[in-house]
Amino acid sequence: MAEQILIDPSVSKAEKYEQLLPQIHALLDRDVNLTANLANIAAALKYGMDFFWVGFYIVENNALILGPFQGPVACTRIGYGKGVCGTAWQKRSTLIVEDVEKFPGHIACSSDSKSEIVVPVIKNNKVIMVLDVDSEHLATFDTTDQKYLEQLAGMIAGL
Ligand code: SME
Repeated sequence: MAEQILIDPSVSKAEKYEQLLPQIHALLDRDVNLTANLANIAAALKYGMDFFWVGFYIVENNALILGPFQGPVACTRIGYGKGVCGTAWQKRSTLIVEDVEKFPGHIACSSDSKSEIVVPVIKNNKVIMVLDVDSEHLATFDTTDQKYLEQLAGMIAGL
């Protein structure tokens, strides 16, 4: 297993993801439980890409419950269709929010979070969790993030 994630800070965002995803793939360990793998993925993504907050909300008893994450403390339960995470779950599709204050029903876990992307992880045709990434800056996320984070979601669905 790799001991650290190495990303060249001088390259484009797409190139950073191109460097990061194979390293995350190499980190995954099929002999341990999902929590252990999600914990390492959250750390690799937060520190590899220098994001403000990275974490997973897992579908449990018809709600999203906070799973492994990196960053400031966060709300523990999000209902179906609530906030950005619950809406991505309901729509079964990635949501990119350029300004969280303009998203009706956004759930503010930290007032420092300004923009957000939420990617559902779909396994056997069911959303099993969402990956939530927050930024302290407006409009951080675009279709490049969507493309690579959806690839990552596919990798997680295969665990
Ligand atoms: N902002 C999210 C809640 C989770 S935190 O950002 C970590 C939402 O509206 O669903």
